[in-house]
Amino acid sequence: MAAAALSLSLSLAGRTALVTGAATGIGRAIALVFAQAGAAVVLNHLGRSEQAGALVQEIHSLGGQAWALEADVSQSADVSRLAAQVQQACGGLDVLVNNAGILQEKPFLQTTEADWDQMLGVDLKSVFLTSRAFLPAMLARQGGVIINIASDLALLGRAQFAPYCAAKAGVIGLTRSLAREFAPQIRINAIAPGPVATAMVSLEAMSQSAIDKELDIPQHRLAEPQEIAATALFLASDLSRFYCGQVLGPNGGSVMP
Ligand SMILES: NC(=O)c1ccc[n+]([C@@H]2O[C@H](COP(=O)([O-])OP(=O)(O)OC[C@H]3O[C@@H](n4cnc5c(N)ncnc54)[C@H](O)[C@@H]3O)[C@@H](O)[C@H]2O)c1
Repeated sequence: MAAAALSLSLSLAGRTALVTGAATGIGRAIALVFAQAGAAVVLNHLGRSEQAGALVQEIHSLGGQAWALEADVSQSADVSRLAAQVQQACGGLDVLVNNAGILQEKPFLQTTEADWDQMLGVDLKSVFLTSRAFLPAMLARQGGVIINIASDLALLGRAQFAPYCAAKAGVIGLTRSLAREFAPQIRINAIAPGPVATAMVSLEAMSQSAIDKELDIPQHRLAEPQEIAATALFLASDLSRFYCGQVLGPNGGSVMP
C-alpha cells in the first residue's frame, strides 16, 4: 500500500503530548520544544510543583497550552489517576514521552534489594505502567507516538551503575516489543542519549571519576538538553513516520553501532 505524501514539517500543531519528569533537565527541554512546535503539553512531575508551574507559565507566555500534573510514574495508582486526568483535561493523547528517571552510583556488591526495586521501578516499570495506561486511548484514536528515554549506558554497561544500565536496557527491549505489537497504528521508538548537562550528571549524583568517564567520548563534552529534545521532536513529528522500534543515539560518539 502506498503511503500518503510526506509533509516535511516538524509541526506538532493540534497534538497533545505528555512528558514525564518534565520539570527539569531533558524532560523540561522536550516539553518546551514540543510547545514551540505547537503541541499542547502535559507536564508530569514528582514533588516539583514550583518548577513545573514556572514552565507552564513560560509556555503560556509563548501562547501555548500546558498543564502540570503530579504523579509518581513508578506507582500504578498514580499512573491510572494521571491517565484519567489527561483524558479529562485534554480529551486524549497523541504523544507520550517516558522521560522520568533516577540514577544511583554504587558498587554492585553494596546494592540492596531496595536500591534495585527503586531503580527498576522508576526507570523501567514506569514505562510499562504508562504504556499500559495510555495505549488503549491511543488505539481508539487509531494513532499515537511513544518515545522512551533510554541511555547510551544501556548499550555500553558501566561499573557501579548496574541497576541503571539494566533498567535502561529493559527500556530498549520494551520499546522494540511494543513497537512490533502496536505497529502500524502506534509508532514507538527510543532515544539513548550520551552524557547531558543536567542534575543527573553532576557531583551531586556522580563521583568525579564517573563524570570523567562520561566525558571520555569523541565529542569530549556534555550535550545540552535541547540537543536531546531535537531528537524527540523528530520522533514525535511526521518526518519520522517510517521509524519503528528504533533507538536513536544523540551521544557525541559514545556508541557507534
Ligand atoms: N543526563 C544524562 O546524561 C542522561 C543520559 C542518558 C539518559 N538520561 C535519561 O534522561 C532522563 C531525564 O534525566 P535528566 O538528565 O533530565 O535528569 P533530571 O534529574 O533533571 O530529570 C529526571 C526527572 O525525573 C523526575 N522523576 C524522578 N522520579 C520520578 C517519578 N517516580 N515520577 C515522576 N517523575 C520522576 C525527576 O523529578 C526529574 O525532574 C532520565 O530517564 C535519564 O535516565 C540522562
